[in-house]
Amino acid sequence: MRFQQLWGNPPEALAQRTGMAERLAHMTTPRTLAPQTPYPYDAPQSQALLTRAAAVTPGGVNSPVRAFRAVGGTPRFMSSGTGPYLTDVDGREYVDLVCSWGPMILGHAHPDVLAAVQGAALKGFSFGTPSENEVALAEEIVARVGPVEQVRLVNSGTEATMSALRLARGFTGRSKVVKFAGCYHGHADACLVSAGSGLATFALPDSAGVPASTAADTIVLPYNDIEALEAAFAEHGDQIAALITEACPGNMGIVPPLPGFTEALRSVTTAHGALLISDEVMTGFRCSASGWYGLEGPYDGGAPDLFTFGKVMGGGFPTAAFGGRADIMAMLAPDGPVYQAGTLSGNPVASAAGLATLQGCTPAVYDRLGVVSRTIADAASAEFSRYGVPHVVQFAGSMFSIFFREGAVTNYDQAKAQQTQAFTALFQSMLSQGVHLPPSAFETWFVSASHDDAAVARVLAALPVAAKAVSESFATIST
Ligand SMILES: Cc1ncc(COP(=O)(O)O)c(C=O)c1O
Repeated sequence: MRFQQLWGNPPEALAQRTGMAERLAHMTTPRTLAPQTPYPYDAPQSQALLTRAAAVTPGGVNSPVRAFRAVGGTPRFMSSGTGPYLTDVDGREYVDLVCSWGPMILGHAHPDVLAAVQGAALKGFSFGTPSENEVALAEEIVARVGPVEQVRLVNSGTEATMSALRLARGFTGRSKVVKFAGCYHGHADACLVSAGSGLATFALPDSAGVPASTAADTIVLPYNDIEALEAAFAEHGDQIAALITEACPGNMGIVPPLPGFTEALRSVTTAHGALLISDEVMTGFRCSASGWYGLEGPYDGGAPDLFTFGKVMGGGFPTAAFGGRADIMAMLAPDGPVYQAGTLSGNPVASAAGLATLQGCTPAVYDRLGVVSRTIADAASAEFSRYGVPHVVQFAGSMFSIFFREGAVTNYDQAKAQQTQAFTALFQSMLSQGVHLPPSAFETWFVSASHDDAAVARVLAALPVAAKAVSESFATIST
């Protein structure tokens, strides 16, 4: 109501007043021209910002993998994003295959999400009280993921998994947790043990600053190994509060559960009175309308007890959630004794962005994501094969990653046994041709529904040169 009084009909009137009309028009203009390529290796304006940033921020970045340490060169400082494209401060445009590490499933600055954010922001940024948007977002999540009866909104995936683990410990009265090598669940102490992507990239098996006593309560097992699972529970079963797993791992590259593995997690945890936590921060609402659970579940042995969500459900804003069985969630304060809180939790603007994003995730969106990712992955694979480059592409819904090695990857040791120099060659070649890939061989590639045929064509056009660079990188190491 107030939005209407102030601005007339959103989003057009608002767009004009804020100079946004041009951008909205720009977003709907089909692109046909390729960028001027190749872009130089150096990026002077990004480098200047990195130097400035490094004076006030460790490494010049606010999250380590953004620093390009695994691939070398200057991380690109982006100045804007529109649909499938990002533009950096040197004025170079890239097709974005990172999508903010997952959240931008509809593309950058999607008009519906933009309108929802503007509408919410006009009413105030944060109230420190309950408000309707957070209720609507929670209802949307509960409606989409059958076994989730209640959710609590938080501000990041890390907070979601940290809180879910505390809840599991409070519910069971036990202290140990089980996780898998190569799975990443955020940077809470209990989870920073053999944690995949960022840490694999930096070759840190652990983080300094995690107390040995905390790490001692985390049992790390090889992924997809039912024997190791059964042995660990046979030995420690009565002390294990929870097993936490990525619903389908994406932080060591995509490594799907082998048939029957998730079922085994369910039956073994049930047999020992431990909770099963399915971390869907990455896969939630991206692999399908109800995440990985929508692709693989329901399971014969029952659903996971708790789920964690983030990324897509925030539409690019810092919001996340954990939820599951109502009897477990009832243990949370203020109803129960497990404390968990947040000044900005359920923020009305972030909740509006998340809700608009989820509502925009129609069946047609998931179909498009599937087409885009298969087209890009198949074309890349064909180019690598043409040069005889050993590789394997693995998928989780529309998420995929490429391992430069022979044979399927089913665990972290296998994921590490790949030729990472080949990925570096691929990354640099694609970047110079205006395609922004995740800057690590251990990360997932994400596409959006805004990746239209023109954006996909740009990626395909870059692949032959990139594949040649990849094949040359093999020649380098064998001499
Ligand atoms: C599976 C999974 N869980 C948890 C997290 C942590 O989320 P955040 O970075 O929002 O703290 C991530 C982040 O990539 C993730 O992929």
